[in-house]
Amino acid sequence: MLSVSTSGVRLADLEAELAPDLRAVEDLLARQADSRLELVEQAGQYLYRSGGKRIRPMLLLLASRAAGGASEAAASYGAVVEIIHTATLVHDDIVDAADTRRGRESLNNMLGNDLTVLIGDYLYIRSMSLAVQMGNERIVSLICDLTLRMIEGMLLEMARGGVLGLTREEHLNILRLKTACLFQGCGRIGAAVAESTPEVEEALGAYGTNLGMAFQVADDLFDFTRGADEVGKPVLSDLKEGHLTLPILYALEQEPEATPLVEEVLESGELTGEARAGILSLVERCGGLDEGRRVAAAYAAAARDALEPVAPSRWREALEALTFFVISRGR
Ligand code: IPE
Ligand code: IPE
Ligand code: MG
Ligand code: MG
Repeated sequence: MLSVSTSGVRLADLEAELAPDLRAVEDLLARQADSRLELVEQAGQYLYRSGGKRIRPMLLLLASRAAGGASEAAASYGAVVEIIHTATLVHDDIVDAADTRRGRESLNNMLGNDLTVLIGDYLYIRSMSLAVQMGNERIVSLICDLTLRMIEGMLLEMARGGVLGLTREEHLNILRLKTACLFQGCGRIGAAVAESTPEVEEALGAYGTNLGMAFQVADDLFDFTRGADEVGKPVLSDLKEGHLTLPILYALEQEPEATPLVEEVLESGELTGEARAGILSLVERCGGLDEGRRVAAAYAAAARDALEPVAPSRWREALEALTFFVISRGR
């Protein structure tokens, strides 16, 4: 269970109440791993049992409660968004040639890219199939739209995310597409299944967008500050995989003469001990980490502000607590 405390409710306090819904999500995921093909089944089980945080289903369930509902449908859509997220990670690790995920061997490292790309495709369609079964055309359309935008984000990241000269605006737009769209969708779907007013759905969507931005900016920060033991990936994996993130973009704004140091890693895809030390020192010295923390905190605050139209409740407080969790989480 996600644990964080704020002045209000603690997420852990709601554990007992949310447990049946979270269990329902897990049951559905386990069932969605079944297949006529053993390989698909094994891959599904490997992925679903590898210890993901389940933050997206949690967000959807909390949004639904905050919007005044507690329906079985929320758990089903919780599984849908988690499967989409899983498919994205599977493809992302191929694109990034990542050998580790959640502290374990990545699927692509185990099975090779050819099989893994098909497993990712299978998962995407599986999620859509589950969404269609729910019989709500508007939500299916919303899910298709956000999934397309996530893929656009990944395409944009591949095309521009590792090119020196990338602007902060371009970078944030990539994060909005690849990460925040799904968080927005979780907020909106939670509201939609609770049959909330359009205003509340809008508010929970805006909350999700800002939460997703805070989450991704923080994730990018952890790439500098935490290693494999904490986040399941070695320090500076992003740069080695060809991705520029906010701390480096900010540092290069302050110290453009350090560009060749970064360029060398981007071009070679290699990270020597010397380059690692040089980049960590650059980012530290230029305040890149503080800038990342500031931006993440600003998005988290914007997420809390977005909740204003949502009626006060323990569930709304839990959504507020989630904004602190995403920037201080352990992994
Ligand atoms: C990882 O997401 C990908 C990002 C958007 C940063 P999570 O950190 O939610 O991944 P798991 O599911 O908990 O492993
Ligand atoms: C990838 O984001 C997942 C998407 C949202 C496309 P990241 O590249 O930041 O995820 P990690 O760092 O590999 O977990
Ligand atoms: Mg990645
Ligand atoms: Mg990352």
